Amino acid sequence: MSLPQKQSSETYEVTYDESRQELSKNGEVIIRNPHLNGLSSDVLYHLAISTDTHDLPALFGDVKFVCVGGTLKRMKQFAEYMAKELDIQFDGKDWTAASFRYSMFKVGPVLSVTHGMGISSLSILMHEIIKLVYYAKCKNVVFLRIGTSGGIGVEPGTVVITDKAVDGLLRPYYELYILGKVVRRPSICNKELVEELKSIAAQEIKDFPTISGTTMCTLDFYESQARLDGAFCDLTAQQKIDFLNKLKDANVVNIEMEAITFASMCHYTGIQGAIICVTLVNRLLGDQVSANKDYLYQLQTRPQILAAKLIKKRLALYKSQNI
Ligand code: URA
Repeated sequence: MSLPQKQSSETYEVTYDESRQELSKNGEVIIRNPHLNGLSSDVLYHLAISTDTHDLPALFGDVKFVCVGGTLKRMKQFAEYMAKELDIQFDGKDWTAASFRYSMFKVGPVLSVTHGMGISSLSILMHEIIKLVYYAKCKNVVFLRIGTSGGIGVEPGTVVITDKAVDGLLRPYYELYILGKVVRRPSICNKELVEELKSIAAQEIKDFPTISGTTMCTLDFYESQARLDGAFCDLTAQQKIDFLNKLKDANVVNIEMEAITFASMCHYTGIQGAIICVTLVNRLLGDQVSANKDYLYQLQTRPQILAAKLIKKRLALYKSQNI
């Protein structure tokens, strides 16, 4: 493992590590935590699952896809949809019900899991779900975030495949504070998966627009996304539009609240991960997400359609290769 490079007295940058990619070619998740070896059992607290109480290889060893999204309604609906697509009976069981935090459904090789809103909520889920697939000895697992976003200059309903994830300062990092220092981990998106999704979308999706581009990930929905309609606001309308135009010039096509963390955590553990989000509003034209709920719900199924196509294609490939 390469040590973080110290950039200043305050900032450490964890650089791209080739060995990580080498290891991940075995198909296994890379756990970079020697302390876990010293645990007699590991409690995945927010999932209400533990290595003591659950036989993880037996229960989850066949998992090949972990699909995450914000809400229970969306992820349960995705599980039902995948059950139909894969011709599997959906049992409706929420594997993490006892946690009262997240919800997790299993449909054959697919997990459909809620991550709540924002980086903090997503990061907790990612730590525990990555450990779950590690303990379960899953191989060649693909992670997909299927979510919603605000669009920059694109028609609402457009599906965006993120090819670059940046923070609110347009930097391609997930930055966090550890031991009182700033640690930056690159939020690199998996090129192979992005290309595969783009090609599936180009060939098989005709009913709605699908594009790829840069996704900006912010710490909140209102002020960091230059909205003027929060409980308070210190921005002028001109400042807002100037900022959104600056984003457009930087090829940002959508804004959401999880991409840098998701991309960075997948990359750091050698997991192929991709972010697919539908846009609910064109932020150049307004702030409020005001379309009716049924229509918005219908839009939220669009990333699921692309995800399902990828899953089915990969499963057919794995079958042909006996993986
Ligand atoms: N999610 C966001 O983070 N922003 C939006 O504008 C819409 C959904």
